[in-house]
Amino acid sequence: MTAALDQSGARLSGAASSDTPRAWDAGLARRTKSLGGGEITAILALAGASDVITFSGGFPDPATFPTDVLADLAGRLITQDPGVALQYSATEGIASVRDYASGRLAAAQGRAPAAGELMITSGGIDCLELIAKSYTDAGDPVVVEAPTYLGAIMAFRGYEADVRGVPVDGDGLRTDLLADQLAAGLRPKILYTIPDFQNPTGLTMSAPRRGELIALARRYGFLIVEDVAYRDLFFEHPPPPSLWSMAPDVVLQAGTFSKIFCPGVRMGWAAGPAEIISRLVVAKQNSDQCSGALGQRLLEEYGRGGYLERQLVASRALYARRAALLADALTAHVPAGTTWTAPRGGFYIWVTAPDGVDTVALSAAARAAKVAYVPGRPFYPGDDGATQLRLAYSRVADELIDEGIRRIGAVLRTALEER
Ligand SMILES: Cc1ncc(COP(=O)(O)O)c(C=O)c1O
Repeated sequence: MTAALDQSGARLSGAASSDTPRAWDAGLARRTKSLGGGEITAILALAGASDVITFSGGFPDPATFPTDVLADLAGRLITQDPGVALQYSATEGIASVRDYASGRLAAAQGRAPAAGELMITSGGIDCLELIAKSYTDAGDPVVVEAPTYLGAIMAFRGYEADVRGVPVDGDGLRTDLLADQLAAGLRPKILYTIPDFQNPTGLTMSAPRRGELIALARRYGFLIVEDVAYRDLFFEHPPPPSLWSMAPDVVLQAGTFSKIFCPGVRMGWAAGPAEIISRLVVAKQNSDQCSGALGQRLLEEYGRGGYLERQLVASRALYARRAALLADALTAHVPAGTTWTAPRGGFYIWVTAPDGVDTVALSAAARAAKVAYVPGRPFYPGDDGATQLRLAYSRVADELIDEGIRRIGAVLRTALEER
């Protein structure tokens, strides 16, 4: 076996002989060393566990997947349009697919992207990775909501950004606290927010806060990255206007079809200033080069056929029902002093247990009780969240919700008794 060399020609440690296991981590890039990633891996690993009631992953319910329609469309695309559907595509996405996505934005958010302002991505995380790769240097401050989607923390940390959290409350990001930090000298390049039915809290940013955030971005010159992963999944009323529709000059919108169509067809979009989109297109050339053409065309045909909007109506009703069942179960089973959010859309309820509970330490007891949640800590860039946990109701069968929460309630009660 040839010994591995680093760029200076020196041997990487652990490469001494072919029968010694190599210490590959010794050669890990500095920017990668501090990345955990274990939480997301653990969530995905649990995805297949059949004997655990799992509130952990943000998975759509497979009952919403349109299998018959997709089987028919896929068959037709493969036999009738292989030159496009099975071929490489333009990095920014197939023109007809961008046209469809643009029309959908115009209908849903009241603004159509201008030329060069829209690209197709491989789900939402692709957009976050492209933006982090293109715009963050080591040490650049990036502000996120505390708590926030841990994939976003990882994307920005992956490029050594200095990720700072600003708390959220029932009206979303605390723009007053952000304003204080900006006045005190903080100069972020990027502020990442999930304004609608946020992951992990389920909370939504109010219309006044949206206006305040935009004013701050214009005043201090930072880019707002608006993640709208759950925006279309409102229960009764749509959330306030999207930040991108309000301020396309200072907002890049990262969207995904994973939660409303299906994550197996990894599709998403980025909409924002043309100058930024053109940079993301260059960055994408060096990652997956283009999002899969078959998936793009499937999405387009599915959407143009009116199926996506019909799927959405059914999904909203399903998730609204699950959220209500989960809230009822929490009321019935968790110990006094525990609080939780009341989402009006999306996949998540965020639970805060009384002081003294450590939800990371409790995950083992939960596993033993055959129930799973995600502990609060990984959702914060700092050290908060010890007493908190995220519950995803999106993929738990109606009839298992009460039993699952009964188990979590018992685990919490035992922990409190042992305090
Ligand atoms: C807020 C948010 N953004 C992005 C993503 C990732 O989306 P995708 O699976 O399309 O990459 C998720 C998935 O959980 C999410 O919750």
